[in-house]
Amino acid sequence: MMGSWKPFLGVAWILFASITGTVAESTFLYSKDGLNFTFTLAAAADSKDLFFRISAPSKFSWIAVGTGDKMDGSMMFLAYPAADGKNVTLSARLADSHHEPVYNDKINASLIASPDEPNGIIEAQYYIAAVCRNCTGYPHQTFSLTNPAQDFIFAVGPSGSNHRILSDSASFSIPRHSFYGSFRIDMKEVTFQNVTAAPALGTAMSDGASLGDELKTGDHDWASIIHAVIMCIAFVVGYPLGVFFLRVMDKVMWHAWVQGATVGLTILGTGLGLYISRLYNRSKNVNSAHQILGLFILLGVVTQFILGYLHHRIYKAKQRATKRIKVHKFALGPLVIIVGLANGALGFDLALKEYLVTPYVVVFCIFLVTLAAAIWFKMLRSKRKQNPEFLGGLSGGQLGSYGFHHGHSQRANESEIGLVGMEARDHR
Ligand code: HEM
Ligand code: HEM
Repeated sequence: MMGSWKPFLGVAWILFASITGTVAESTFLYSKDGLNFTFTLAAAADSKDLFFRISAPSKFSWIAVGTGDKMDGSMMFLAYPAADGKNVTLSARLADSHHEPVYNDKINASLIASPDEPNGIIEAQYYIAAVCRNCTGYPHQTFSLTNPAQDFIFAVGPSGSNHRILSDSASFSIPRHSFYGSFRIDMKEVTFQNVTAAPALGTAMSDGASLGDELKTGDHDWASIIHAVIMCIAFVVGYPLGVFFLRVMDKVMWHAWVQGATVGLTILGTGLGLYISRLYNRSKNVNSAHQILGLFILLGVVTQFILGYLHHRIYKAKQRATKRIKVHKFALGPLVIIVGLANGALGFDLALKEYLVTPYVVVFCIFLVTLAAAIWFKMLRSKRKQNPEFLGGLSGGQLGSYGFHHGHSQRANESEIGLVGMEARDHR
């Protein structure tokens, strides 16, 4: 019975507050952990417009405030630097579970220009003044202009120049937060008739505002990092090591075990890749070059494993090489390793970590060149054993051309014989 009176009490309070001119806005302020996050809110009881200001250090790639006490069902206002690095882009989004919120153009939110307090990035600080028109109608968590303890959430993206976003697009896909938390505001203190302008940015926490759960600092997307570590171990270390065991150490079974274990790692890493794909707008449709190539590469390495295994079985039974091994050794094998390595660079690009692309390419080139050099020396050595005059008869220039043309020369056949002989040894 009592519940049915509640809305009337709320309306009566708004009318009373409007007449007596009580507090017109409320400010939530968090000034620990280098954050200095300020949110000041005023609401119009008649039009249901929300007027707000947000300020936070511009070292954070993005900043946001959302309704409710959790991401799921929250209506969020995100801001990040515009393409010119001076203005800001406001993006109104709806969140569903722990996934990147999706821009929603039906939420009528925009920045409001004000000559005395302009929007933009000024002295390394975001300044945002905005309005969301008729803002209570969206399908989000319980949000009411009469709630004395209305929940809100806030979050900021990773900081530093490596994570800088510069975009005019309201649907720009963002990286995951580094800090997030929640707070409450007494909506009765901020809701009045005829509110038509953004409140001034507050400088202290209002009485009607309070911090919710403790702030979560240092949040990371561990799944994405583990995916990257697993895939880099597989393609930069695992598969090249397998080749090293075969070509340099003449250990076919070591090669088989290492490549088998690395295929297992690749399957695990791909599973994680598919899991993280769901989190971000840039990857949830699994249509980026990185993801499509990654799935083909998985197919490639599994095929490689099957070809190697079938060859091994036939070799043991019949003591002869098979055509499969040529595909395994000279076509699919080198192709999947090199494309897999290159796909890591596309991965860093997709994860908005372009700054890691060059160091990654340098590391994998060092690995590849070292491996190629080890194989080359090994081949020279085995030729020398088979034909002691071989090296003595070659000048430096000839050595170079041997490396490139051995596949078509008399010596190439010797090389093939060497490898087949080696397989015979290790298949025993
Ligand atoms: C790329 C975009 C985002 C992703 C992938 C993401 C993902 C996640 C994940 C996985 C969690 C759970 C973390 C844990 O259990 O430790 C979480 C929690 C949270 N996030 Fe986000 N988030 C994103 C954007 C945002 C934004 C824009 C806000 C803005 C307010 C926000 C606010 C929060 C809050 C307050 C929590 C704790 C409450 C809850 O569990 O929902 N997130 N987020
Ligand atoms: C050769 C195979 C692959 C390699 C070497 C690889 C490597 C990487 C690397 C290094 C990153 C950067 C992660 C970070 O820094 O946080 C990444 C990101 C990512 N990978 Fe892969 N990956 C492969 C296959 C796949 C597959 C098959 C999928 C899913 C279909 C996938 C989905 C993703 C997604 C969604 C991201 C971006 C995560 C974000 O936006 O934060 N990857 N990958």
